[in-house]
Amino acid sequence: MTLPPSFPPGPRGLVEVATTFRRFMNEPEAEFRAAHARWGDTLGFRLGRDRIVVLGDPGLIGEVLVNTDGTWVKDRVTRDLSVFLGMGLLTNEGASWRRQRKLLSPSLTRRHIALYADAMVGCARRYADRLADGDERDVHADMSAVTLEIVTETLFGAAFGHDPTRVGHAIDSVMVDFQELVQTWRRFLPATVPFAARRRMVESSKEIDAVVMEVIHRRRRTGERGDDLLSRLLEARDDEGSGMSDQQLRDEAVTLFVAGHETTANALSFALMFLGDHPEVDARLRDEVARVLGDRPATADDVAALRLTDAVARETMRLYPPAHLIGREATRDVALGPYRLPRGTAVLISPWALQRDPRHWPDPLAFRPDRWLDGSAERAPKNAYLPFGGGPRVCIGNHFAQMELVLVLATIARRARFERVSAAPVRVQAAITLRPAGGLRMRVARRGEPSAPQQE
Ligand code: HEM
Repeated sequence: MTLPPSFPPGPRGLVEVATTFRRFMNEPEAEFRAAHARWGDTLGFRLGRDRIVVLGDPGLIGEVLVNTDGTWVKDRVTRDLSVFLGMGLLTNEGASWRRQRKLLSPSLTRRHIALYADAMVGCARRYADRLADGDERDVHADMSAVTLEIVTETLFGAAFGHDPTRVGHAIDSVMVDFQELVQTWRRFLPATVPFAARRRMVESSKEIDAVVMEVIHRRRRTGERGDDLLSRLLEARDDEGSGMSDQQLRDEAVTLFVAGHETTANALSFALMFLGDHPEVDARLRDEVARVLGDRPATADDVAALRLTDAVARETMRLYPPAHLIGREATRDVALGPYRLPRGTAVLISPWALQRDPRHWPDPLAFRPDRWLDGSAERAPKNAYLPFGGGPRVCIGNHFAQMELVLVLATIARRARFERVSAAPVRVQAAITLRPAGGLRMRVARRGEPSAPQQE
């Protein structure tokens, strides 16, 4: 299978392709940018039977992401996630995806998610109140625990009836195994090959299913409803008045859990890292929080006024987008800019490389939240900032996540600040999500007394 002449330039020959691909997997941001410098904004190559095109031009990226006629579907790696996400929103396609997106959207609008602010603030306060002055902590593990608590409470309600950490561990374990499968050459072997990782994935999926199905069955049986997302999904009806099956509910719930947990934890961890590295920004953020909140806990209504806190979250995700790679696959031969791509071509977009491109972002490696306050970020071209993706498949949890980042950062900032234990640059691991490699050690400097319980 040769490449057509209209295919983008890029590495050719087994050795060059294998080396490039391995580098992409190990050091995606640096290697994507190096590859663009060598071959241009659009480059392509063949890997085994796959044709892969890497896009760095915001215009062409927009064309792929906003497409609505079914030319572009999720790439194979994302589709493979259906092994345990089933047909949840992330992995679904076509008419079924459209129906589900319509069913879920009302529960995640800006107005509706205000209901979840209290849960977010409560979880962050309980965490911040436990911090002791001088403690050395793995902030990434802490943020994973906080966002796990938040996602469990907002999705399933406070009366979950199961140990959230057990479900969290089962989900983390599936993701680790999945990562092992997709990042190695094993992804080219058929799904029936029984590797240990595949076996473990099936086992963990069963554990997750047992818990989630129990909650769904209980809710159906008792009719018990609350302000949680699952209650909304149980009540959601399409245009014909039909609701979701138990299996579809399970798939959506597990998808929301997976999509919303680690991504947010990573963004919070990197934000705390940056605040530790930039005491002047940290001090301004604290002033803002004190000015806006005084002595009371944050609410959804405060988010708009916490402008610097919001800018810190945005700037953090510019430099370290938790979803650092977005993929699509062409369902038919397609023209893209000057290229013609055959059906089956996979397209990769690296928000991480794009958001550090000096053509779009002056002083791209500097952590400068003010670019989001002084209007300069608005000068970046459309689709040069994609932490939540874009087009019709943009992250459905984007407002939820942005609000969670602001409320958790503000709540923690009132109680404590974190200082880096080591001045060495934090190493990052580009797994399915982008996260600090081996955790993030920081020391707590406490401020004030734990909050009074009645203020919760
Ligand atoms: C900082 C946190 C988050 C980041 C960086 C993030 C990022 C993304 C990105 C980039 C996509 C698009 C993927 C693609 O186009 O292939 C996406 C999709 C999605 N996200 Fe998020 N996300 C975050 C938080 C959340 C939260 C909190 C939820 C749920 C409450 C969520 C649920 C989803 C779902 C269901 C999809 C699939 C949407 C669809 O295809 O219709 N995400 N997310």
